[in-house]
Amino acid sequence: MRKILVTSALPYANGPIHLGHLLEYIQTDIWVRFQKSRGEQCTYVCADDAHGTAIMLRAEKEGITPEQLIDRINQEHQRDFAGFSVGFDNYYSTHSPENQTLAESIYTALDKNGKIARRSITQAYDPEKELFLADRFVKGTCPKCGAEDQYGDNCENCSATYSPMELINPVSVISGATPIEKDSEHFFFKLPEFQDFLSEWTRSGTLQDQIANKLSEWLDAGLQEWDISRDAPYFGFEIPEQPGKYFYVWLDAPIGYMASFKNLCDRRDDLDFDEYWKKDSITELYHFIGKDIINFHALFWPAMLSCADYRTPTAVHAHGFVTVNGKKMSKSRGTFIKASTYLEHLDPEYLRYYFAAKLTSNVDDLDLNLEDFAQRVNSDLVGKVVNIASRCAGFITKKFDGQLAAQANNELLQQFIEAGDQIADFYEGREFGKAVRKIMELADIANQYIDEQAPWVVAKDPEQSELLHEICSNGINMFRQLMTYLGPILPVMREKSEAFLNTELSWDARETLLTAHAITKFKPLMTRVEMPKIDSMLEASKEAAAAEAQLGKKYDAPAKQENNAEPIADEIEFDDFAKVDLRVALIKNAEHVDGAKKLLKLTLDLGFTEKQVFSGIKSAYAPEDLVGKHTVMVANLKPRKMKFGMSEGMVLAAGPGGKDIWLLEPHEGAQPGMRIM
Ligand code: MSP
Ligand code: ZN
Repeated sequence: MRKILVTSALPYANGPIHLGHLLEYIQTDIWVRFQKSRGEQCTYVCADDAHGTAIMLRAEKEGITPEQLIDRINQEHQRDFAGFSVGFDNYYSTHSPENQTLAESIYTALDKNGKIARRSITQAYDPEKELFLADRFVKGTCPKCGAEDQYGDNCENCSATYSPMELINPVSVISGATPIEKDSEHFFFKLPEFQDFLSEWTRSGTLQDQIANKLSEWLDAGLQEWDISRDAPYFGFEIPEQPGKYFYVWLDAPIGYMASFKNLCDRRDDLDFDEYWKKDSITELYHFIGKDIINFHALFWPAMLSCADYRTPTAVHAHGFVTVNGKKMSKSRGTFIKASTYLEHLDPEYLRYYFAAKLTSNVDDLDLNLEDFAQRVNSDLVGKVVNIASRCAGFITKKFDGQLAAQANNELLQQFIEAGDQIADFYEGREFGKAVRKIMELADIANQYIDEQAPWVVAKDPEQSELLHEICSNGINMFRQLMTYLGPILPVMREKSEAFLNTELSWDARETLLTAHAITKFKPLMTRVEMPKIDSMLEASKEAAAAEAQLGKKYDAPAKQENNAEPIADEIEFDDFAKVDLRVALIKNAEHVDGAKKLLKLTLDLGFTEKQVFSGIKSAYAPEDLVGKHTVMVANLKPRKMKFGMSEGMVLAAGPGGKDIWLLEPHEGAQPGMRIM
């Protein structure tokens, strides 16, 4: 029995799980379930990544403590993961006593070994908020190309890289204040001293080729020391004996893998922390991560571990990024889909299957094409796999009292059993797409067999009852093989199938056929994906994103403005603006509206037509003052039925409101009906 410890990256505790994240957790979970179904001791741990400035600021905005925030998010994350059957053996938090103890001891080991340097550095500092600003917390105009509103590390327009204080007119995105430069002492991990170790480690079969090649470039270019400290205020662990200095979130985050495992070991007699983490351990350790966080896992982390006398990872498995319909996930397109939104509309096993069908062992991005998704799930799972069982089960139940035949077609089933070895190799090597393809080939063979044998025809002839029994029993046996192989991908369907087949599915058990065995009544195992449900999911995602943007506006300190004016709304395209038909109108009549506190009923003369508009300008004008004045109106606004009647446009006026709303005097305005651009 192998002893394997597996991790997925620890999601940040300041936001919800979305479909992009899920690729990783589903990939890892499939691999772990595969190992478990083979009888290995495989343990899957994860945790929330709870530290850092972003989490501190988010809690502040919500008016709660960081601890309250991370507790809430931890529950939400666990609920979402459970919804997708991601079966962690332990889900913990980096803000834990175990992690603090381990982080302190590892740091102390690095320091004792002379691998920590201290020196003063100059950084951008927010004098209003009194905190140092990471590059991403400063925005301003690019010093190279002049593009406005660029982050402090690089320009999205011209790709120039620079330090935040090089920006023209830099501002702190937290307070809007102009940052100043300030010195403070920082702690650095001397990564360059691990150059030889890392050159060797990254080339020892621990990484995918694409990744190892990328890292060689960095290694050849020479490594930099890594800044591992942050100044107060910061949400994290204080560095031992260094009041006001904290571990940078990325120092204690990977240690969170160990801490989560430690926390589990303390509850489990069969797991020993030291056995798994001691130097030269013969247990296996795998980290599944996204391609964006490779340097942390393939450079800093192995260097830290080896320096602190722990084992290093057996391998780091990186995957690419999820795109939806060929594009980056987008809030406005509704393709930034949260796990919880998905679960309100669709069966989680659809997504597990689709990701599996497209996953390879490399780091290419993976496109979730929603039409292909529906089509693929419907044709493979519903059309092929479930169909096999549903075509055979009824006969077994009705005609044979739920008993399978005493004999099965060994030759036919032998190829299903044998294919298992190849499928297992695909799973082991994270070639899930290849595994799925092989399984679907088998499903085709099974369906072909049933088509040829046509049990529905055989059933009509009472003389052929034995043959019918055999055909259907073979069908059920083939279905069982398929579900054994699909089990790691479809845990819920696997469980339902186990209930139906009245047996446990495992890689070993598959070698003995089910004969003279009682099965239970067949219940539908999966329903078809319906396109309208996908559309409602996209719609709901759009709405959720819009609602959050509103909330964000409320929470985010506005960019500093002198007059507290409302910030300007999101930019629109000129084409959108050009759709608005603005006309000069003569106010021909204005009258009070019974029961309306703010509204006046205006009759507007455009020269060639008249429009009736209800306008909220009663506070500024008595009706008699308005008649004869000019105004600008939106002439093509769709008429709206209001409580008091139809309103056929909108009147524009300038001024802060209340009594101060200004209209044009006739001598200032242009002629009624004239279009304004
Ligand atoms: N907190 C760090 C990881 C610390 S590990 C010691 C982090 N968190 S994250 O929430 O941003 O990302 C968690 C994982 O999800 C990462 O491996 C990341 O690559 C992955 N993904 C996030 N968005 C993704 C996609 N759109 N597509 C695929 N994976 C993505 O990074
Ligand atoms: Zn630029």
